[in-house]
Amino acid sequence: MGTPALPDGQTDLRYLEAVSRSIGKYIDSSYRVIVNKSTVPIGSGDWVRMIILDGMKAAANHHQPNFDIVSNPEFLREGAAVYDTFNPDRIVLGGDSETALAKMRSLYQGIIDRSYSGDKTLDPVPVVVTDINSAEMIKYAANAFLAVKISFINEIANICDRVGADVREVARGIGLDSRIGQKFLQAGVGWGGSCFGKDVAALIHTAKDYGYDAQIMRAAVEVNQHQRTLVVEKLQQVLKILKGKTIGLLGLTFKPNTDDMRDAPSLTIIEQLHRLGARVKAYDPIVSQSGLRDGLSNVAVETDAERLADGCDALVLVTDWLQFRDLNYPHMATLMHQPILLDGRNFLDRQALTDAGFHYIGIGC
Ligand SMILES: NC(=O)c1ccc[n+]([C@@H]2O[C@H](COP(=O)([O-])OP(=O)(O)OC[C@H]3O[C@@H](n4cnc5c(N)ncnc54)[C@H](O)[C@@H]3O)[C@@H](O)[C@H]2O)c1
Repeated sequence: MGTPALPDGQTDLRYLEAVSRSIGKYIDSSYRVIVNKSTVPIGSGDWVRMIILDGMKAAANHHQPNFDIVSNPEFLREGAAVYDTFNPDRIVLGGDSETALAKMRSLYQGIIDRSYSGDKTLDPVPVVVTDINSAEMIKYAANAFLAVKISFINEIANICDRVGADVREVARGIGLDSRIGQKFLQAGVGWGGSCFGKDVAALIHTAKDYGYDAQIMRAAVEVNQHQRTLVVEKLQQVLKILKGKTIGLLGLTFKPNTDDMRDAPSLTIIEQLHRLGARVKAYDPIVSQSGLRDGLSNVAVETDAERLADGCDALVLVTDWLQFRDLNYPHMATLMHQPILLDGRNFLDRQALTDAGFHYIGIGC
């Protein structure tokens, strides 16, 4: 179930509490394993046990408690959920009951031994068996690390912009170091979505509860906020006054292959452009078709990229949808007031865009 963030970064546990209470109401005395896959604050395993027992008492459920709790955090990516379920990098199981952990292993056996994988020659999926608190922490630490990695390359991109280096070359050069790795080193308008912001905020909050200031994570959040405003700063540098200008956004979702707009960088960019008096148009392969318009009042959502380009003073590529590689850019340039393209994901080919008649601007390159 969902574990959204409260305004102060703390995790809202009301759904977890409701589910745990109803388990307490209906559970009988046959042995049960209660598996938590939601991202929950460290220590929730014991708390869930307590709420289930409270729920039993409140519902006058007189069965003998006979259950164990296992933490089994979920690492799948939106847009690749089925693939990731059957091909995980690892399975994390946290618990203190051998019986419960053995049941979990047998439940996952087909995934562990790659029976469901297209490539049966792969090594078995590693299983990390640990205590509940460490399993819960693994989930937060994984998301926090990825968020820090993206903010790191974005910071490098901002320095590249100033010294005249190309962040794509830098990312390739450092990513080939096996200790660093190539993934999550694409500079751009920053991270978003339902997990990173919420999980990093929750971990910062937990650290604070224990008197610790999580400085690196706070900095990652700050760099990410700035990265979203960078788009507007770059538009100001080239267009000077944004009031009365029309800006077209290519992509709205927080990443491609999803309709998810939660904490999407596009929303911050839209808010700032409106604040500065610009008109905003947008085209997104899913949002344009879906009729979803949350947070998009005052945005003209167009049905294709050419209608988007029509009359714009600049385009900003916000989401790296694959189909944006093959748009008819030479024609789009002729439809614009000013053929300016700010590539917020360093996703397009600078030379091809320049040949198409665009003034191309990247992030850190
Ligand atoms: N979405 C992802 O890609 C992803 C990946 C990894 C981890 N997670 C974690 O998984 C959790 C859930 O995420 P989600 O995206 O599936 O959220 P969601 O909000 O889409 O789904 C929550 C589900 O819980 C159900 N639910 C809520 N209260 C309930 C109750 N009292 N009884 C029964 N069911 C109830 C809702 O009906 C809904 O189906 C979060 O903690 C998230 O951090 C999500």
